[in-house]
Amino acid sequence: MLILAFESSCDDTAVAVVRETGEVLSSVGESQINHHTRYGGVVPEIAARLHAEAWQPVLDQALAEAGVEMSDIDLIGVTAGPGLQTSLLTGTTAASYLGLLYQIPVMPTHHILGHIVSVDLFKKGQKAPNIEFPALTLVLSGGHSQFFLRTENSVQLLGTKRDDACGEAYDKVAKMLGLGYPGGPIVSQYAERGNSQAFELPLVALEKETLDFSFSGLKEAVRRIVVAHDGLTGAAQERFRANICASFQACVERTIVHRLKRALQLYPDIQQVHLVGGVAANTGLRNAMQNFLEPKGLSLITPQDFSYCTDNAAMIGRAASLLSQKSPDKARLQYVDAKARWELDF
Ligand code: KG4
Ligand code: ZN
Repeated sequence: MLILAFESSCDDTAVAVVRETGEVLSSVGESQINHHTRYGGVVPEIAARLHAEAWQPVLDQALAEAGVEMSDIDLIGVTAGPGLQTSLLTGTTAASYLGLLYQIPVMPTHHILGHIVSVDLFKKGQKAPNIEFPALTLVLSGGHSQFFLRTENSVQLLGTKRDDACGEAYDKVAKMLGLGYPGGPIVSQYAERGNSQAFELPLVALEKETLDFSFSGLKEAVRRIVVAHDGLTGAAQERFRANICASFQACVERTIVHRLKRALQLYPDIQQVHLVGGVAANTGLRNAMQNFLEPKGLSLITPQDFSYCTDNAAMIGRAASLLSQKSPDKARLQYVDAKARWELDF
C-alpha cells in the first residue's frame, strides 16, 4: 500500500510517500525557520501564508523523489491536529481536495501519534527497526512532554506537561540569552562548551507517583540567573552562555532520567524505551537515557534519521496506515476538519 502524507501543523510544510510498513520512499519538508527567527517564535499569520505557497512544490518534489504518481496512491494521511489552526488548514484542504479529485480515501491523523510511530520509519532499501512491545514512548517536542504506553495496536497516555513543554523550555532559555529560535540545537551546542556544575538548578519536585512533567520552575531559575548576569559582553558573555546552557542541559537530563526511573518502576513489563519529537535530536539527552537503561538490559530506540525527530510527513503516513488497519471506516472520501485541539485516541 502506498500512502501520501501531509504535515503542516506548525512551521514545516511537509509531504511524504511511505509504504504501510514504514518504508520511506520520499520525505520532503520546507522549513520556515528563517522567517520566524527574528520574532523568537512562530508567527501564525506568516506560517499560514508560507504553507499556502509551499505545499504544491513540496508535493511535486515528494512524488517525483518517490517515483510515483497520484494514481498510484492508495491512502492519503493528513495531520488534522493538534497544532496551529491556520497552519493545519493548508494540509487538510490540500489532502481533502486531492482525495476528492483522485478518489482516494483520506485519513485524519493525530500529530502526536505520528511522533510516537516515527521510530518505525526506515529509509528505502534499509532494514526495518526492531520494535518491541509494550514500549514506553517519551514524546518531547516544542508543544508536548508526554509518556505513552504503546502496544502493537494501542497507545495510552501515562503522563503529560503541567506547564512548559520540554522543547519550549529550550526555546525560552535561548530567547532569554538572545540566541534565536528554535532554541534546542543552539542551547545544546553552547552546553557542549560549558561547565554543567557552574550553576545549581532545581530538580522540580512533583508527587512521587506522577509521570507528569514541569519545566517552568527550571526555566524561571535560569531566568533569575540570566537577569543577575545582565550586561556581560564579549568572551565573558560567551562563557556565561555556555555555562548556563550546560547547567540547564544537565538539569533537563536529570529530570527526564528521574521520570524514566519512575515509569519503569510503575510499568515493569516494558521491553523498549522510545524517545521521539524534536528534543529527541539532543545527543546529551540520548546518552543520559542510554546510560541509565543499558545496565537494566533495556535499549533506547530513537528515530532512524534525525529528520524523523522533528516534524515530518513520513511519520504521519505511517500513523495513517496504522489507523486505517485499526479503523478502516475512518479513511473516507471526505473534507477533513482542522482541529487545533484534539485528544489522541488510538
Ligand atoms: O517535534 P518538533 O519539530 O515540533 C513540535 O511538534 O513542537 O519539535 C520542535 C522542538 C523545538 O522546541 C526545538 O527547540 C526542539 O524541538 N529541539 C531540540 C533539539 N532540536 C530541536 N531540543 C533540544 N535539543 C535539540 N538538539
Ligand atoms: Zn511535532
